[in-house]
Amino acid sequence: MASARVLGLSLLLLLLFLGSFGCRASVPLPLVIWHGMGDSCCNPESMGYIKKIVEKKIPGIYVLSLEIGSNLIEDMENSFFMNVNDQVKLVCDILAKDPKLKGGYNAMGFSQGGQFLRAVVQRCPTPPMINLISVGGQHQGVYGFPRCPGESSHLCDWIRKMLDLGAYTKTIQERLVQAQYWHDPLNEEEYQKKSLFLADINQERCINTTYKKNLMSLNKFVMVKFLKDTMVDPPASEWFGYYRSGQAKETIPLNETSLYTEDRLGLKEMDQAGKLVFLGVEGDHLHFSKEWFYKNILPFLQ
Ligand SMILES: *[C@@H]1O[C@H](CO)[C@@H](O)[C@H](O)[C@H]1NC(C)=O
Ligand SMILES: *[C@@H]1O[C@H](CO)[C@@H](O)[C@H](O)[C@H]1NC(C)=O
Repeated sequence: MASARVLGLSLLLLLLFLGSFGCRASVPLPLVIWHGMGDSCCNPESMGYIKKIVEKKIPGIYVLSLEIGSNLIEDMENSFFMNVNDQVKLVCDILAKDPKLKGGYNAMGFSQGGQFLRAVVQRCPTPPMINLISVGGQHQGVYGFPRCPGESSHLCDWIRKMLDLGAYTKTIQERLVQAQYWHDPLNEEEYQKKSLFLADINQERCINTTYKKNLMSLNKFVMVKFLKDTMVDPPASEWFGYYRSGQAKETIPLNETSLYTEDRLGLKEMDQAGKLVFLGVEGDHLHFSKEWFYKNILPFLQ
């Protein structure tokens, strides 16, 4: 009787002990994923697959693959037609309301999802983002979509036409996602004035010190560039570089841009603190192997 009670008490203490140290410490940080253009949260061949392999490698992890809209079709359509600032606001709300993210989370954006999640960390510090992994994101924008991912190629042709018509006209800016990160190196002034999304988060119009402080709160900002990318013009944008102003041939790396030298966004300070990680992968846009992912990306999720 007495020994049973002692045993019961010891078990209780053990459970309390595990509850306060062992278990909590071993719960992995959640992961939030934002898909790219023409994709959706849960396609089993894209984001669904990433979610599955992360869950397999990190048992117990909570993976939230963002759905922008109330179903998969809306989610895909919104990647072309929903105002990006509204999308970011929507995502901030989703994250703030999710009790599982309270203690912080890592974020991984694919293609345009990379720059969209950067807007999330810059604008919405709660809950805290710990590592940001941008997989083929275009942080200085694009000046063309030379090729488009498979199924959306007809949409892409149409988008190209719209962008040619006038990426910086009000109607197209407000309605077309890709116009909101369209960066014309021959017309920097118009980009700076009229780009609704990218010029704002890249501090082209004014310096919002909150953006800088929030971005710098990241532990790591990992940027993956596809070394044989044929879908993004220029691929340098995936490492935050871009065309040197006034022409569309020669590109410069991040550390030669004024954004860096003037340190308007804290990137120089982050670089010096070892917080920026530049990864290159042989392959076309978003093409990488499972083994590459395990070796190079997984360490930032654990
Ligand atoms: C700076 O960004 C924060 C976060 O998005 C926002 O609340 C604030 O209004 C911005 N300040 C300016 C001057 O734009
Ligand atoms: C700029 O970054 C490149 C790598 O992209 C590096 O090789 C070069 O040394 C850097 N330049 C300066 C001035 O830090």
